[in-house]
Amino acid sequence: MATKKLLEQFILNEVKKAFKEAQEKEEKKASSGFDFNFFKTLGTIPARLNYAKKLLEQLGAGLGSSRETFKLSANRVLKIAKNEAGVAQTEAELEFIRNNSIPRNFTTIEEFDPKGNWIVAELVKPFESEREFAIETGINYQFYENLIKTIQDRKPQNLQSLLFIAEHDLEEANNKIIELKDAEDFKSQVALQDYEDTFSELEPFVHRLKALLKSKTQYNFMMKIMNLLERGLEWGDLGFSHFGKNSKGEILIYDYGFTTDVYKKYYKASSSDRDSNY
Ligand SMILES: Nc1ncnc2c1ncn2[C@@H]1O[C@H](COP(=O)(O)OP(=O)(O)OP(=O)(O)O)[C@@H](O)[C@H]1O
Ligand SMILES: [Mg+2]
Repeated sequence: MATKKLLEQFILNEVKKAFKEAQEKEEKKASSGFDFNFFKTLGTIPARLNYAKKLLEQLGAGLGSSRETFKLSANRVLKIAKNEAGVAQTEAELEFIRNNSIPRNFTTIEEFDPKGNWIVAELVKPFESEREFAIETGINYQFYENLIKTIQDRKPQNLQSLLFIAEHDLEEANNKIIELKDAEDFKSQVALQDYEDTFSELEPFVHRLKALLKSKTQYNFMMKIMNLLERGLEWGDLGFSHFGKNSKGEILIYDYGFTTDVYKKYYKASSSDRDSNY
């Protein structure tokens, strides 16, 4: 019994020691003498990346196609372009930032290189799953994905008019099902199956859209997304992994430079799949 207790105490002490060491290492890196003024004088991508890698903690290493991110402080990151697409994505983000008429649902940029080589942005904790997105926003992720695709397809003026469109389509499918129900020829039976499929997809969509319109927070969340879609942000930057929470608990997009222009200029040739950025 006494041995068991001693062992438990020993394990606890070891865990505490390891935790303390990890924390000290973190703190050391955070105050490791990273000199921003010196960083600003660096003229090449490898020089910037090497200097940051040596002195700062890296976040999501290699996850981005065009930029690398480093922790500058408890609530700020330094994002460094690692190629031309990174400069273009950073410039696209700066465009969004400069336009004050866009409702803010993206991370603020505190400082930037006029040439787009780096930015200092607000730190967030990125969402790790569709489930986390759903829990945090209250919006089912499959529905959200469907909603964005439908908005891109139908280009409604607002979410209320999208509901009218969807309700109209649902009614039309229902009428066709009634009309074709007793038909015996093959062509009509195929058409009936099509309308039945449409109906069973649309019914939950309409139901969820109605619920979304009733929720002020969900509605506001989606209206801001619609605004960004209208301004050319691609689906590639709107998936769950592009959202995170800041220290105030706000849900923000932290990676919003993948616009249609950037896609066409830097990604289209290397990818046949428009969504591959996501
Ligand atoms: N504001 C932030 N706070 C915390 N982590 C961040 C932030 N911005 C980026 N990251 C981390 O750095 C990684 C790379 O950044 P980001 O996704 O913006 O690069 P990107 O090259 O623009 O990506 P993509 O190829 O998807 O456009 C992210 O996957 C994430 O892990
Ligand atoms: Mg990006």
